[in-house]
Amino acid sequence: MNIHLVSGGCGFVGRNMVKRLLKTTNDKVFVVDDLSIGRHPSEWLDEFTSKNFKDIEIIGKDERFYFWKGDFRDFLFAFRSNPRFIQEKYDLNFDRFSDVFHFAAIVGGRLKIDGDPLMVGLDLSIDSEFFYWLTRHKPKRVLYPSSSAAYPTSLQTEAGAIQLREGDIDFKKNLGTPDMTYGWTKLTGEFLAQIAASHYGIHIVCIRPFSGYGEDQELSYPVPAIALRAAKKENPFEVWGSGKQGRDFVHIDDIIDLIFILLDNVGDGSAYNIGSGKLTSFLDLIKVFTSFAGYNPTIKPLLDKPVGVHSRYCDMSLVKEKFGWMPKISLEEGMRRVYEAAKKKS
Ligand SMILES: NC(=O)c1ccc[n+]([C@@H]2O[C@H](COP(=O)([O-])OP(=O)(O)OC[C@H]3O[C@@H](n4cnc5c(N)ncnc54)[C@H](O)[C@@H]3O)[C@@H](O)[C@H]2O)c1
Repeated sequence: MNIHLVSGGCGFVGRNMVKRLLKTTNDKVFVVDDLSIGRHPSEWLDEFTSKNFKDIEIIGKDERFYFWKGDFRDFLFAFRSNPRFIQEKYDLNFDRFSDVFHFAAIVGGRLKIDGDPLMVGLDLSIDSEFFYWLTRHKPKRVLYPSSSAAYPTSLQTEAGAIQLREGDIDFKKNLGTPDMTYGWTKLTGEFLAQIAASHYGIHIVCIRPFSGYGEDQELSYPVPAIALRAAKKENPFEVWGSGKQGRDFVHIDDIIDLIFILLDNVGDGSAYNIGSGKLTSFLDLIKVFTSFAGYNPTIKPLLDKPVGVHSRYCDMSLVKEKFGWMPKISLEEGMRRVYEAAKKKS
């Protein structure tokens, strides 16, 4: 029997992964989330039934979804005192987790990354416990989500932004400076992933998603927030900074697709970009959504808001060459889906 572990499985990426696993496999899925940001499964599963069982909820008619609400570090600590605590406490008959997706992290948008960097720095503590646990538990395969924030910010300036390639981070050379404590934790995580593979034989792959978005993303992120304001026909339309700063937007369904391809093909801890390869400014994004809404507002720049690096986008050629993969969902189609979801809330 396969049981997959999804930490942070009630967050944006996690719940999309859980839904995909439940839909495309017959496997069991064990989710750990403290709900500090994430939403309880009753809010995002179409058919929700649950029963409580010794500190966990068993969810769904076929009882394949186990939900443990709490800090992932406490979950990992419990393994230290008894490596078989899951099997014994919850009557689960399995040897080890199959796929482990580690999405539990303090992420937030730009406000949190710039405004509370030492809270975000707690990711170091979550990740270091996680990597240590991997070396003892030895799951079959592991996904570590790094981030495009691990890339040197010097390559993302207004004057000199380039399409970021995987090789722009090289642990054998100078690494450059990543984006705040968030980027540092992700860079450290990538390094630990390589050690987990080389020293402990763990099958692990890292991803560097760029700006992932989707219909059910939190409103603290720009895409759903801009979509909602466009649906409400905001005018003048506020934008953080000049709006000329740009990002590489990629739909969550594409992110999940590539994760499975990478898990099947990479196990040495190396990292791959997940993006579209295209740079879209926030002004362009506003145009896309306001054109869906059928109006042309005046733009009001908010120059006191944090904006992060000027331009962050990727080169997807390595992923295309190695795995023949490019995102399927165009910016227009993906943003249309977000807009339709926002309209229902407006
Ligand atoms: N969304 C993106 O575009 C993107 C881009 C790059 C990297 N990532 C990475 O993917 C992962 C998931 O991101 P997301 O966008 O889903 O974030 P999210 O904030 O929506 O999800 C994180 C989840 O972890 C939970 N959590 C936080 N601390 C926890 C703890 N100590 N114990 C248990 N649960 C805890 C939160 O409640 C939340 O549900 C993160 O590691 C993030 O850095 C995401």
